[in-house]
Amino acid sequence: MKIAIVGTGYVGLVTGAAFAEIGHDVLCVDNDARKVERLRQLHMPIHEEGLEPLVRRNVAQGRLRFSTSVQEGTAFAEVIFLAVGTPPGYQGEADMSYVEQVGREVARHMDGYRLLVEKSTVPVNTSARLGRTMNRSVREDIPFDIASNPEFLREGSAVHDAFHPDRIVVGVESERAAARLRAIYKPIVDRSGCAYLEMNIASAELTKHASNSFLAMKISYINAVSRICELTGADVNHVARGMGLDSRIGPHFLQAGVGYGGSCFPKDVDAFVRLADELGYRLDLLKDVQAINAGQREHLMRKLQQELWVLDGKTVAVLGLAFKPGTDDVRESPALYFVPRLQERNVTLRLWDPVARAKFEPVHPGIPFADTPLEAARDADAVLILTTWPEIVSLDLDRLKSVMRCPVVVDGRNAFEPAVMLEKGFVYHSCGRQPQPRMH
Ligand SMILES: NC(=O)c1ccc[n+]([C@@H]2O[C@H](COP(=O)([O-])OP(=O)(O)OC[C@H]3O[C@@H](n4cnc5c(N)ncnc54)[C@H](O)[C@@H]3O)[C@@H](O)[C@H]2O)c1
Repeated sequence: MKIAIVGTGYVGLVTGAAFAEIGHDVLCVDNDARKVERLRQLHMPIHEEGLEPLVRRNVAQGRLRFSTSVQEGTAFAEVIFLAVGTPPGYQGEADMSYVEQVGREVARHMDGYRLLVEKSTVPVNTSARLGRTMNRSVREDIPFDIASNPEFLREGSAVHDAFHPDRIVVGVESERAAARLRAIYKPIVDRSGCAYLEMNIASAELTKHASNSFLAMKISYINAVSRICELTGADVNHVARGMGLDSRIGPHFLQAGVGYGGSCFPKDVDAFVRLADELGYRLDLLKDVQAINAGQREHLMRKLQQELWVLDGKTVAVLGLAFKPGTDDVRESPALYFVPRLQERNVTLRLWDPVARAKFEPVHPGIPFADTPLEAARDADAVLILTTWPEIVSLDLDRLKSVMRCPVVVDGRNAFEPAVMLEKGFVYHSCGRQPQPRMH
């Protein structure tokens, strides 16, 4: 099938390349002319394992192309996926301006039936608003459908997830739309055996916000438990393991730490809370999730400050700038909280991340970057760990200690064992675990 994807970012590019790989003819559209130009030269705008060979192969075989023109995308394909950003608006609501703009543009250029598929994460009932907007621009005799197909891929394993999703959720309200989406996804469903769920559009839209908010809630829950652990002598890793083996709970998203970040959870929880407010339902549960998340960062900052006493003039190595390993995405990453706060306190910073430098540097220019974690830690008064990159987890701890001025490690990801750190002579602070093992 011919498919156009408008918005060629983390979601649009991976989805477009995956659709091409399973045999569809794909045109990826983006209004960022530089990004499109670079993609045509096969330069990837994001770091995602397996993406480059996938894009290269499908461009070479003529199934994947790039354009800056929504008009061209509308002329090219009957099915148009919307994968533009839905960033936070002024009050935390989802900013729908890109979605609206593309909807209007598609409607203006339609010369026959089109199916517009919301892949961007949007508030429930967006399709009704999008439909009204399109109706104002489209010729009266031209039919169209809107469908919802929320995306669940995870940055860091996005290419794998595109071919092996847990489920595909599709919100459709016409047989014509349903048939097209079934045909598009058939190869992935056949090969992966994943569940393919059809439902009404509002349910599909809501599934995305409900899922992301639930995952954020799980993280905040274990972080709240971690605070109780710190106050009682329990170890949150042991508690989480004891909980996670219960099949009703499951082990995922029970890692205590500095809290969730990234381009999805913070904004999606916020948008869901705002949406509920607008609908007249107070989702206080999620407000607590947000407060716990913010509290974790402040708590870790206090640990660092209490250990260093006076921050002014100290040197801190920040290891890990991406919001999680496997991606270069720094949107809402914990590092964006700590770096400016430490700078305000006149701390000398040294940064290290294996892939996120290019995305982080424009936001906070002028801070020295090291090529290795050890180089960042040289002569530091403390190391602050914010991402569990393999290079961090596998650090040679003896060498780390030998290069630091003071062997203080504040670990926002519980990357190391407290007993090992103690034995190696570190002053070690982590989340929800005792700095020293209790003796009996
Ligand atoms: N990143 C993820 O892990 C993830 C996962 C699931 C869902 N989502 C959702 O998918 C959507 C896209 O997220 P993303 O991370 O890919 O964002 P992104 O910022 O990486 O990409 C969005 C792209 O849309 C382009 N764009 C904006 N307005 C445009 C317009 N009018 N015409 C053409 N292109 C336009 C931008 O230039 C950008 O390249 C969001 O709603 C997000 O919440 C993201």
